[in-house]
Amino acid sequence: MRLLVTGAAGFIGSTYVRLARGEHEVVVLDKLTYAGRRDNLPEGVSLVVGAIEDPHTVREVMGGCDAVVNFAAESHVDRSIADQEAFARTHVIGTSVLLDAARELGVPRYLQVSTDEVYGSIENGSFTERSPLNPSSPYSATKAAGDLLVSAHHHTYGIEALICRGSNNYGPRQYPEKLIPLMVLNALHGDGLPVYGDGRQVRNWLYVEDFCRAIHTVLLEGRPGEAYNAGGPDETENIEVVRRIIDLTGTDSSLLEHVTDRPGHDRRYSLSSEKLRSELGWEPRVRFAEGLERTVAWYRENEWWWGPIRSGAYRDYYERQYGRSLSG
Ligand code: NAD
Ligand code: DAU
Repeated sequence: MRLLVTGAAGFIGSTYVRLARGEHEVVVLDKLTYAGRRDNLPEGVSLVVGAIEDPHTVREVMGGCDAVVNFAAESHVDRSIADQEAFARTHVIGTSVLLDAARELGVPRYLQVSTDEVYGSIENGSFTERSPLNPSSPYSATKAAGDLLVSAHHHTYGIEALICRGSNNYGPRQYPEKLIPLMVLNALHGDGLPVYGDGRQVRNWLYVEDFCRAIHTVLLEGRPGEAYNAGGPDETENIEVVRRIIDLTGTDSSLLEHVTDRPGHDRRYSLSSEKLRSELGWEPRVRFAEGLERTVAWYRENEWWWGPIRSGAYRDYYERQYGRSLSG
C-alpha cells in the first residue's frame, strides 16, 4: 500500500513510520511545528511540508494513496489551556479537510489517531468504546470533535474510516514538555521536578511502539466505522513516575517540588482494550518498568536530539509555564 501519514515528523508518527515502511510505501505530510522535526524521520522517507487544513496540498499528496493515517495534532494539554486556536484549526478543520479529500479521491481506508482524553476522567473502572465522550480540556474537546467528524463521514458517506484511541505514550523522541521527558531531562541537569498539585493523578502508560502496533493492526484489520481503545499495561500515579525517574537517573530527591495544579486537571484515565484484544489480538508488550528504563537510556544517549531544544524557544515556553528558568 501507499500510505499518507500526517504528523509523522512528531513523536508517535515517526515511530509508526519506522514500523510501517518495511511493508508499505510511506509519504509524510507535516507542518513542522515546534514539535515536528525532519530528523525524526528515518532516511529515505519522503516528507511534504504542509498543513492538513490546506485543501490544495492535501489533495495533491493524497492522490494515489491507499490509506491515510492521521497523527497531525497539537498534542499538549497545557498549551491548549494557554491558547487553543491552533488546536481547533488542526483537529477540527484539518480532520474535516482530510476526510473530504479521502472521500473525493476514493481513498479506501482512513485511520484517525486519537486519545483516551476524549472520554474525560474516571474514578473507578475503565472506559470502553461505548462510553460517552466527555472531554475536559481544549485539547481533548477538539480531539473529540475530530473523532465525531470521522464517525459522521463513515455514517453519511460510507467511507472506511476508523479510530484508534491510545492512553499516555512515552518513549524516544517525545518533546520534553510532556511529563516523562521533562522530568528525565530536568533530573539529568539537576533542575527542579515540578509535580502538578498533589501528584496523585493516574495515567495509563503505553510504550510508543505498542501504540504504533495497535494503530497498524486497526488500520489493516479493524471494522470500518469502529473505534478501538489501546491502553497501557500499567497505571501509575505521577508522583510514582517521578520517583522512579529519580532512581533511574540517580538524582537528588529534594529536586521534587509540588507546583500549582493544571486548571481542570483530569484525575485518572483508564482504558479497557478488551475489544482490540479479543477482536484483533493486540496486547501491549512493554511493561512500564522496562519501557521507562529504555526511555531514560535513550535520553542519556541522545543529547544531539534534545540539546538544541533545551537551548532554544523551549526555554521561553518553560519560563512562561513554570515561572522559573532552566539551568544553562
Ligand atoms: P507531537 O506533538 O509529537 O507531533 C505532532 C506532529 O503533528 C508534529 O510533527 C507537528 O509538526 C505535526 N502537526 C501539527 N499540526 C499540524 C498540521 N496542522 N498539519 C500538519 N502537521 C501538523 O504529537 P504526538 O505525541 O506524536 O501525538 C500524535 C498523535 O497521537 C496526536 O493525534 C495525538 O492526539 C495522539 N495521541 C498522543 C498521545 C501521547 O501520549 N502523546 C496519546 C494518545 C494519542
Ligand atoms: O492520555 C493521552 C494524552 O496524554 C495524549 O492525548 C496527549 O497528547 C499527551 O500530551 C498526554 O496528555 P497528558 O496531559 O496526560 O500528558 P502530560 O505529559 O502533559 O502530563 C501527564 C501527567 O503529568 C498529567 O497528570 C499532568 C502531570 N504533569 C505534567 C507536566 C508536564 C506534571 O505533574 N508536571 C509537569 O510538568
